[in-house]
Amino acid sequence: MKQLITYRIHQTAKIANQDMHNAWLSLPKPFFILAPMEAVTDVIFRQVIDYASAPDLYMTEFTNATGWLHAGQKAIGGRLLKEQCENSRLIAQLWGADPIAMKELSMHCKEENFAGIDINMGCPDKSAVNTGGGAGLCKNPTLAAALIEAAKSADLPVSVKTRLGYSRLDEWEEWLGHLLQQNIINLTVHLRTKREMSKVPAHYELIDQIISLRDRIAPQTLITINGDIRSRQHGEELVNKHPGVNGVMIGRGVFHDPFCFSNAESSTPDTDKLLELLRLHLNLYDKYQSQTKRPFETLKRFFKIYIRDFEHAADLRHQLMQTNTTSEVREILDAEVSKKSHLRQHYLTQ
Ligand SMILES: Cc1cc2nc3c(=O)[nH]c(=O)nc-3n(C[C@H](O)[C@H](O)[C@H](O)COP(=O)(O)O)c2cc1C
Repeated sequence: MKQLITYRIHQTAKIANQDMHNAWLSLPKPFFILAPMEAVTDVIFRQVIDYASAPDLYMTEFTNATGWLHAGQKAIGGRLLKEQCENSRLIAQLWGADPIAMKELSMHCKEENFAGIDINMGCPDKSAVNTGGGAGLCKNPTLAAALIEAAKSADLPVSVKTRLGYSRLDEWEEWLGHLLQQNIINLTVHLRTKREMSKVPAHYELIDQIISLRDRIAPQTLITINGDIRSRQHGEELVNKHPGVNGVMIGRGVFHDPFCFSNAESSTPDTDKLLELLRLHLNLYDKYQSQTKRPFETLKRFFKIYIRDFEHAADLRHQLMQTNTTSEVREILDAEVSKKSHLRQHYLTQ
């Protein structure tokens, strides 16, 4: 009897200890997450967004477990690169269809001090689906459960990000119900099917039904909604309408407004602030270049986030697209700033 009591006390302490270190359990309600986006949400862009207006949690770009198992670091490049100060708020997003590989990469993430593992079960890309991973898992619930179990062996909180189903909208109840039975910490639902890609509006009309399914099957699992959410204000409006929702994930919204996680009423972002973010992005690109080895060309897709909504923005963007180094970008930005201040001076002395 004494042994049993000691065991129970030990177990309770262990669970309390795990809870204390579980990033998902100390989040505000609602919490906000920057969506995982391949070739976007790397160690550089996450720091830019953190500087602009920080969400509560981040996810890495999705990282393939099988690649890791067979080729290690070489296969995953800079996808899991992070700063130590990100540890408590950064979830590693993994994908794959092999539970052994999932377990191995999850253990590596534990060693690297990630705050959790998120398994991608929603990517519609052929490269994921044809190998049985991503949204392909909507058609293989047994494998989906095995992957979750495998990830749990690393003793980190495990969450899943998925879609409503593969091809038909009415698949959602069975598929999400199955995932909710796997005792996961959070289920992020991108409110579309795989077939719908991003071509139809997100199905907000299903949120209440998803919440009541969660309440019936797994009241302890958090639900995060995703799809077409533009800003904190928009997310809060949705949570007010659907009070059981715990979290809001924003992806493409940051392209339109990198300050979208801010509390301030949304408005067109200030040009000077956007240029400041671009300069930060350039500095971070240089800082991590030897580790990420991302070609300069990949930086250009970010220019339209920062250079917009002012006269000649298109011209300036066009000039920047012709550059080959971060120094050339800085020179053009400096010239633009000095042109503007000359103009201001000219009008002030008229
Ligand atoms: C460029 C890009 C890359 C993406 N990469 C990932 C990824 O690595 N993992 C993932 O789960 N979803 C990925 N997604 C999907 C987003 O996380 C999100 O579910 C989708 O964009 C819908 O949300 P939104 O309307 O807020 O953008 C990606 C989306 C975009 C636009």
